[in-house]
Amino acid sequence: MQIYEDYSLKEYNTFGIDVRCKHFITCTSQTDLQKLITEKPVPLHPTLIIGGGSNLLFTKPYEGTVIHPVISGIAVVNETKDQVFVEAGAGIVWDDLVGWCVDHDYYGIENLSLIPGHVGASPVQNIGAYGTEVKDCIHEVKGIFLESGEFFSMTREECQFGYRQSIFKKALKGKTIITSVVFKLDKQPVYNLTYGHLKEQVEKLGSVTLQNIRKAIIDVREAKLPDHTVIGNAGSFFKNPVISATLFNKLQTLNPQVPHYPADEGQVKVPAGWLIEKSGWKGKSLGKAGVHADQALVLINKGGASGRDIISLAETIERDVFNQFNIHLEREVNVI
Ligand code: EPU
Repeated sequence: MQIYEDYSLKEYNTFGIDVRCKHFITCTSQTDLQKLITEKPVPLHPTLIIGGGSNLLFTKPYEGTVIHPVISGIAVVNETKDQVFVEAGAGIVWDDLVGWCVDHDYYGIENLSLIPGHVGASPVQNIGAYGTEVKDCIHEVKGIFLESGEFFSMTREECQFGYRQSIFKKALKGKTIITSVVFKLDKQPVYNLTYGHLKEQVEKLGSVTLQNIRKAIIDVREAKLPDHTVIGNAGSFFKNPVISATLFNKLQTLNPQVPHYPADEGQVKVPAGWLIEKSGWKGKSLGKAGVHADQALVLINKGGASGRDIISLAETIERDVFNQFNIHLEREVNVI
């Protein structure tokens, strides 16, 4: 365990916002974390857990303790004839796990290639892309309770997953530290190529293989989404809003081309990127904060932006989208 005082978080949030926290602690194992919680070498209220920092926006210094779990390890923990159970430490870079599974011919998370962040954060917001959500492959989530240091293990059902949603963002928000995740993957080819033009993009690379799916998705993401090591961003800033069929019908009457997907209970999901583009914000800026020119769902730090700059832009977009479409955009990014 390493403890640092008055520590800069610039390298620990992909927006690249330069704020400091009171204490910053790295823990390399579950035992380390339990020791921290029982011995409390520094105050643990308030506490923020940061993995890859790819879904965070700081608007001011963090007057508390940041815990950065760097628990490593990827291993097969069980298998059947057709399936394999892979356990990965919370500190593993998400895309390294995807690469490992593809290299071992394990099917299930290849559509989630190149999503930034660490394994420990993947169940929290149920990361998803190209027709796959991580919940589809999660078997078990392990961790400890921040208050007691007690170990827990949760099944997929207990995690209450939804679109960019889980129990870790609701009843257990701020109450747990995830230490590892067990994924249930297929040994036999099972592909999900239904999203957009994915199938054609894979076929352009040759036959449909795990490697080609991963490559096609990496190509699409690299073409559309900014690299946070070059331009600060946190991926999708907003969730795609789910609206009532009545509101959607009005929207579609005025905009017959509106892209949309079915959602639960007869509702309709509309891409926030489309709404933002139609409201005129794609590629535009407000001070040092901007809207990415190739994907309007992504807000960017154009250099030296503060968290407040990004929030001002987000608020302006939210207002304009609401005034034009009567739809509230909900933020996906966790604003601190
Ligand atoms: N669109 C526009 N303008 C834009 C962006 C999108 O009109 O600037 C429309 C297009 O019609 C496009 C449709 O929206 O066909 C969907 O766009 P895209 O395939 O890029 O997906 P998305 O719905 O905008 C979601 C995820 C992304 C994920 C992609 C691909 C959310 C909030 N975002 O975006 O996730 O990569 O699907 O599956 O659900 C992330 O969470 O950080 C993230 C990048």
